[in-house]
Amino acid sequence: MKSYHLLLLAALALPLGAATPKHGDTWVIGMSQCNLGEPWRVQMNADIAKAAGGHPELKVIFKDAQNDTLTQVSQIEEFINADVDLLIVSPKEAAPLTSPIAEAYRKGIPVIVLDRKVLGEEFTEFIGADNRKIGEAAGDWVRKRLAELPKVKAGGKARIVELEGLMTSTPGQDRHAGFRAALKNAPVDFVFVADMKWLEPSARTEMESALAVNEQIDLVYAHNDPGAHGAYLAAKAAGREKEILFVGIDGLPQEGRAYVQEGILSACFEYPTGGQEAIESALRVLKGETVPKVVTLGSRVFTPENITHGGDPL
Ligand code: FRU
Repeated sequence: MKSYHLLLLAALALPLGAATPKHGDTWVIGMSQCNLGEPWRVQMNADIAKAAGGHPELKVIFKDAQNDTLTQVSQIEEFINADVDLLIVSPKEAAPLTSPIAEAYRKGIPVIVLDRKVLGEEFTEFIGADNRKIGEAAGDWVRKRLAELPKVKAGGKARIVELEGLMTSTPGQDRHAGFRAALKNAPVDFVFVADMKWLEPSARTEMESALAVNEQIDLVYAHNDPGAHGAYLAAKAAGREKEILFVGIDGLPQEGRAYVQEGILSACFEYPTGGQEAIESALRVLKGETVPKVVTLGSRVFTPENITHGGDPL
C-alpha cells in the first residue's frame, strides 16, 4: 500500500478534531458546584463522580462555591488559569456567571453548563430539565386537585402560598412562570409569595410569616423539596399541617419521594441532576465530537397514588 494511503487511513481512524490531554495522560475536568448545602447538589456531584469513575482517562476536580457568587466566579478563574481540559459549571446565578464562563469558552476550554442557565450562547452545551414545563405541570396538577375542594366547588377560591427559588436563577424564574401560566384563569388567590432562595430554613421562616397573616391556606407550592419541607415543618409547629397541601420539586428518592411516601408532600416533580449526562457529553467533546447546544432531560410526577410504581412521566 502506498504511504499516502496509510496516512489517509490513519487520519480516518481519528475522530474529527480529536484532542489529547493537556497535562499528562488524563483529561482534567474542573467541576464548579455552586453549593453543597442541599442533598440534590450532593447527588449531582455523586452522579458525576460515579460516571467519571468508569473512565480512568478522566480526572474530575470538584470546587464548592458555598452558595457565594463571587467565590464561584473566582473558582472558575482558577480553573481557567490551571488550563483544565474541560469545565462543568452548575452556576448559582445567571447574570454574574455569564462572563467567566464565556471567558473560558473563548480561551478554548469547552464548558458544559448544568441545571441553572447563564445568559447568551458562549458555552459548549447546556444540560437540564425544562423548568417551565415542570412549573406548568405543577400548575395543572394543582388546578385539578384544588377543583376538588368543597369551597372551590361552591364557587370560592383556593388560597395558595408560593415559596420561590432564588429569582436571580433561571429555575426559579421558569418554575414560577410555568406555574402561573397554568393557573391563569383558575379560581385561586396567591395570598403569600416570597423568595426562600432554595433554602429550607428560609422557607420555614417565610411560612411562619404566611401562617401568621393568613387564617386559611389551602396549598403551598415550593420551587424545591427542601422549601416544601421547611413550609411543612412551620405548619406542623402551628398545628396546621393537616389543612394544607404541599407540593415540591426535585424528587430525590431519599428526600421528595420519601416525603410523598410519608404523606408530607401531595405531589413532587422530578428534577434530574444531569451529572451522568454531563460526563457522557464531556467524553464526546474531549474526543472531538460535536454535541448539541441544549440537552433537555425528562421529568416525572410522584404522588401517593403512583409512587410505588415509580411515578408518571410529564
Ligand atoms: C439545589 C437546588 C435544587 C433545585 C436546583 C435548582 O441547590 O435548589 O433543590 O432544584 O437547585 O437549580
